[in-house]
Amino acid sequence: MSVATTIASVDEIAEGKGKAFDLGEKRIAIFNVAGKFHAIDDECPHAGASLSEGHLEGGNIGCPWHYAEFELATGKHLHAPATCGVTVYPVQIEGGQIKVEVE
Ligand code: FES
Repeated sequence: MSVATTIASVDEIAEGKGKAFDLGEKRIAIFNVAGKFHAIDDECPHAGASLSEGHLEGGNIGCPWHYAEFELATGKHLHAPATCGVTVYPVQIEGGQIKVEVE
């Protein structure tokens, strides 16, 4: 069963920005897209870059190293060099806190 864990305050991530947080053994990247928060695995499946440091454009994140792109809502990879997507985690906002559901 998955449990929603508080990972950050909404104030910690400015609109149009991302930030990575450790949650147990996972490193999760949270993005603020026009006030909507998304959570994905921070590690790019191509060669391990931190996606939280990537380029946010619309609802997509571009890897800062070799520019693979992922859709934040689904984790789907949109183009090479990545050959697979990233895990997406459900996000809840409660009392100004960002909660992420991990299994
Ligand atoms: S590490 Fe992300 S595209 Fe290469």
